[in-house]
Amino acid sequence: MAWCTEAVPNLPHREQTNEYGLPGYGASSYGDAFADIYDEWYESLDDADFVRFMTTHLDTYCAQRDALILELGVGTGRLLAQLITARLQKDSLVGVDSSAAMLAALSKRGLPSRVSTMCCDMSRDLPPGSFDLVFIGYNTIFNLPSEQSLSACLSLVASRIQPDGFLIIDAVVPNDADGDNVSVRSITTDSVVLSISSHNKASQHISGQFIEFSKTDGVRLRPWVLTYWTPSQLDTIATVAGLELMDRYATGDGQPFTSDSPRHISRYRTSR
Ligand SMILES: C[S@@+](CC[C@H](N)C(=O)[O-])C[C@H]1O[C@@H](n2cnc3c(N)ncnc32)[C@H](O)[C@@H]1O
Repeated sequence: MAWCTEAVPNLPHREQTNEYGLPGYGASSYGDAFADIYDEWYESLDDADFVRFMTTHLDTYCAQRDALILELGVGTGRLLAQLITARLQKDSLVGVDSSAAMLAALSKRGLPSRVSTMCCDMSRDLPPGSFDLVFIGYNTIFNLPSEQSLSACLSLVASRIQPDGFLIIDAVVPNDADGDNVSVRSITTDSVVLSISSHNKASQHISGQFIEFSKTDGVRLRPWVLTYWTPSQLDTIATVAGLELMDRYATGDGQPFTSDSPRHISRYRTSR
């Protein structure tokens, strides 16, 4: 399927000390800050259709055999566990994550021994192998801080996919909500969690903090940083990295993607 490609802008140089634009923030910061509450906050996210999408394509492509599968930014294994349950085959699965704390949480899930993990920055290293499916869910692709790191990650993916395997990305389509935002995430008698974020449209960059005030534990900060891309910017960067778009949907149940879609599920194959 052909899609028009949008030029990738030269994003403004970030004044702060690192490519995340937030001094002290690095590849493992998100996972280290969220590992203790990730499953409690996000286990019931509404992206089961993404798992159905992957299962449908795997069932077609690897109908009678076990697949080799790689998840980028596996976190606590929330999606990996659903995929294992959904597939009848005994696939081998590898999850990479830059946060040892996230992978420690994953190890408590009791996943089968055919699941392995690797602690690394996905823009610098990926496990060896020739994968049938590489996937990255729930906006995790936006955790990469720059065009260079995204491009490096996608080049690594292109070198790890079977000739007829694919990469599947689930991400939101960025909206126009520029500026600062403060909202309440939760309130109990003993604690309140505030969500504070700052969106810079020019640099396609959002940084935020969940701030928890608790009677027993005091104040706890959980920082996060996203650098987002439109679908067509992603396609442009993917093309240079050796991947080409196969198809794109608005949902994992196959709803057509349109210019109004708030989310996209995109499948790429290697172009080499
Ligand atoms: C939003 S969570 C998603 C976790 C899981 N895939 C899910 O959907 O529940 C993003 C994950 O990506 C990891 N991550 C962020 N930057 C990374 C990087 N450069 N390399 C590898 N993992 C990264 C974080 O540690 C975190 O576990």
